[in-house]
Amino acid sequence: MSVTSKEIRLAARPVGMPKESDFEVAEATIADPKDGEVLVRNIWMSVDPYMRGRMMDRESYVPPFQIGKPLEGGAIGQVVKSKSDKFKEGDYVNSMLGWREYFVSGADGLTKVDPNMGPIEAFLGVLGMPGLTAYAGLMRVGELKDGENVFVSAASGAVGSVVCQLAKAHGCYVVGSAGSDDKCEWLEKEAGIDKAINYKTCGDLDAAVKAAFPKGIDVYFENVGGAHLQAAINYMNPFARAALCGMIEQYNATEPAPGPNNLIMAVGKSLKLQGFIVSNHFDLLPDFYAEMSKLIPAGKMKWQQTVEEGIENAPKAFLNLFTGKNFGKMLVKVGNDPAV
Ligand SMILES: NC(=O)c1ccc[n+]([C@@H]2O[C@H](COP(=O)([O-])OP(=O)(O)OC[C@H]3O[C@@H](n4cnc5c(N)ncnc54)[C@H](OP(=O)(O)O)[C@@H]3O)[C@@H](O)[C@H]2O)c1
Repeated sequence: MSVTSKEIRLAARPVGMPKESDFEVAEATIADPKDGEVLVRNIWMSVDPYMRGRMMDRESYVPPFQIGKPLEGGAIGQVVKSKSDKFKEGDYVNSMLGWREYFVSGADGLTKVDPNMGPIEAFLGVLGMPGLTAYAGLMRVGELKDGENVFVSAASGAVGSVVCQLAKAHGCYVVGSAGSDDKCEWLEKEAGIDKAINYKTCGDLDAAVKAAFPKGIDVYFENVGGAHLQAAINYMNPFARAALCGMIEQYNATEPAPGPNNLIMAVGKSLKLQGFIVSNHFDLLPDFYAEMSKLIPAGKMKWQQTVEEGIENAPKAFLNLFTGKNFGKMLVKVGNDPAV
C-alpha cells in the first residue's frame, strides 16, 4: 500500500538571501518497496549551509538541486517496511534523502545508526557530517599539534563547536568568534575555550583577534571568510595552517566578495591555506569515532541544537542559518521517534 509523503521542493533559485517563497511544500505518493528496497519514515533532517550552493545552477563538487524537485540532505529515519536482507523494520538509518517524510530506497546510500552510541539526531551533528568535518579539517588539513594556538570562526555552530573542543582536548589555546553574547558565554563556560569574541559587538575584529593572540595563531579554522580571514592572516605565525572549511559570509552575496587584501603575507610567512570537502576524508571515520567515544562520555564534547518542528518549517530552519538564529546544530524534527 502506498503512503502520502510531504516534501519540500525548490520553487525558484534564490537570488541573494533565500526567501520562503523559493521553496514549496508538496505531497508525493510513495509506492511500496520492491525486492531489495526499504520504506523509511524520516524522524530528523538536517539543514546545512552548503545546501545554499546547491541551489545555484552551476558545476560544483555536488550537483545542483533542480527546480520542482525535492531537496536532498542528511536525515535520520526508521525503516517501516523492509524487502532488503540488509535492514529490518525498526532499524534507524542515515541517508541523504531529507526534506521529505517518507522515501523508498535500495540499501546503497543508507547507513545503519546505532541508537546506543548517542541520541539518533547526533548523527546529523556532533557524530555526523559536521563532526567529521571538524575532525578532518582540524587534524588532517590543519595538521594540529598539541598545545598550539587555534582560532575558530562560527565557533558555536555545528562544526565550530566540535573544532573548539577537539583543540582543547589536544591542550591548545583556543579562541572562537560567534555572533551573540549567549553563544560566547556557552563557548567559554561550557565548551571551555580560552576566549570568545562577539564579532558583531567587538568593534574592530582585527584588533580583537590581535589582542586574543599575543603568541600568534598556529591553526585557523575558517567557516566565515572576509574580515575573519583577513584578521587571521594578519596574526598567523610562520608556517601556520588555515583549514578553509567554509565562507558563509559569501553564500548569499550578489557582488564579488572584497576578499582579504593581505594574501601576500602568506608568502613571507610560508602559510598553508587549504580548502577541503569532508567527503574526501571519510577514511577518517574510525579515528573520529574513536576520539569522540572518549570525549563524549568524559564530558569533554558538548553540543547545542536548535530544533524546528515539522517538515513545513524546514525552509525557515534553513534560512535561520544565515542570520545566526541557530545555536549549534540546526535540525528539523520531521516525525516522532517511537523509542522516545
Ligand atoms: N568543507 C566542508 O566539507 C564543510 C562541511 C560542513 C560545513 N562546512 C562549512 O562550515 C561552516 C559551518 O557550518 P555549520 O554546519 O557548522 O553551520 P553553523 O555554524 O551551525 O551555522 C551557521 C552559522 O554561521 C554564522 N553565520 C551566518 N552568516 C554569517 C555571516 N554573514 N558572517 C559571519 N557568521 C555568519 C552564524 O553564527 P553566528 O551567530 O556566530 O554568526 C550561524 O549560526 C559553513 O561555512 C559551512 O559551509 C563545510
